[in-house]
Amino acid sequence: MKILVVFGTRPEAIKCFPVVEELRRRRGVQVIACTTAQHRHILDQVMQLVGLVPDIDLHLMRDKPTLTDITTDVLHRIGEVLDKERPDRVLVQGDTTTAMATAMAAFYRGIPVGHIEAGLRTDTILSPWPEEANRRIVSVIADMHFAPTTVARDNLLRENVNPGAIYLTGNTVIDALHAVRDRLALAEVSPLPDHPGLRAALDQGRRLILMTAHRRENWGDGIDAICRAARALAERGDVVVALPVHPNPRVSVPVRAALGDHPAICLLDPLDYAEFVAMLGRAEIVLTDSGGVQEEAPALGKPVLVLRDTTERPEGVAAGCARLIGLDSGRIVAEATRLLDDPAAYRAMSKVANPYGDGTASRQIADAILGAAAGLHARAVGT
Ligand code: UD1
Ligand code: UDP
Repeated sequence: MKILVVFGTRPEAIKCFPVVEELRRRRGVQVIACTTAQHRHILDQVMQLVGLVPDIDLHLMRDKPTLTDITTDVLHRIGEVLDKERPDRVLVQGDTTTAMATAMAAFYRGIPVGHIEAGLRTDTILSPWPEEANRRIVSVIADMHFAPTTVARDNLLRENVNPGAIYLTGNTVIDALHAVRDRLALAEVSPLPDHPGLRAALDQGRRLILMTAHRRENWGDGIDAICRAARALAERGDVVVALPVHPNPRVSVPVRAALGDHPAICLLDPLDYAEFVAMLGRAEIVLTDSGGVQEEAPALGKPVLVLRDTTERPEGVAAGCARLIGLDSGRIVAEATRLLDDPAAYRAMSKVANPYGDGTASRQIADAILGAAAGLHARAVGT
């Protein structure tokens, strides 16, 4: 059985590498790892860290591409790969334009698609944008849906997806987190980024606020509000704000202009995954608009304030580890201040909860694919 696994961005690489590794261990499976390289540098960081060598690299990253550019590039180039390789199945992950356009290219050729991290939904197609539409399109095309949680499974059932095609597996991000933490433990290192200001601040006992931001719908006003909040929090004197800056110039240019000069704010180049996990471990609180970080922070017992108006990951909120706080800078500062100053509020949010999986998602996905190929519906979830 020939399986083409396609990924293009940092989070896809993080969430796909455990699946590629698992499938490569299975007998009778030929895995072709294919990257569109919708991202380049931050994708390579992940691949190098985990030793994921792509069999095919399409080098598609452009400077300031439009969504049309990415979609058409992927559609054409993945189409060529599919015509040449003729896989029995394609796997895509999540909600990026790489995932959506790859699913379409496979659909046009009648090649079945499996969707890793299926069924995440907000109630509006405009947020996150364009990801909410991307993942809904993939759901319409896919014939195997690997849902990370019961909430995601139920979303798919509500959309009349065949229950026999839905597999409740957990999210492969937890597999990735375990793998990277195991490798760190083996190496006995805690690879905090090499930034003198950050190390000095932590040595002085300042508490770490870890922030990330990159969502398209936050470009402009949202990023400005996040930067105002970061400055206000940095003024407290007892914290250091660390912000690994996303390389997208629509993010990096305004963030560096707004925050580059503050002594209690450390703007970092994108961290490799091991460094980022180490920073999560050191953080007091996490402020983010990221999808993946909303899953990792609860798994590490870190309160996470979600800098968005919607979330497709309500499980962290329900578990009490995450709060959806929007993009008003006053509210961001108030919510963070409450956690920093009120130990009871902090304790209430800092419990370790892991609604996103038990670290066996990749194994379950491989079992399901091989089971389905053998005519079995290994873990179909029913209604
Ligand atoms: C993309 C995904 C988004 C995902 C995010 C994860 C789409 C439309 N967006 O957003 O769903 O949450 O990745 O980070 O699929 N760049 C570099 N070096 C890099 C990576 C990016 O310079 O290593 C710059 C380039 O100018 C590149 C841009 O950032 O074109 C990234 O653009 P793009 O892939 O369109 O979207 P992201 O905002 O990164
Ligand atoms: N991440 C990383 N280095 C960083 C910032 C984030 O390795 O400097 C990881 C993070 O742990 C998570 C993933 O990248 O697994 C999230 O990526 P991003 O926020 O870019 O995308 P999203 O998850 O929102 O699609």
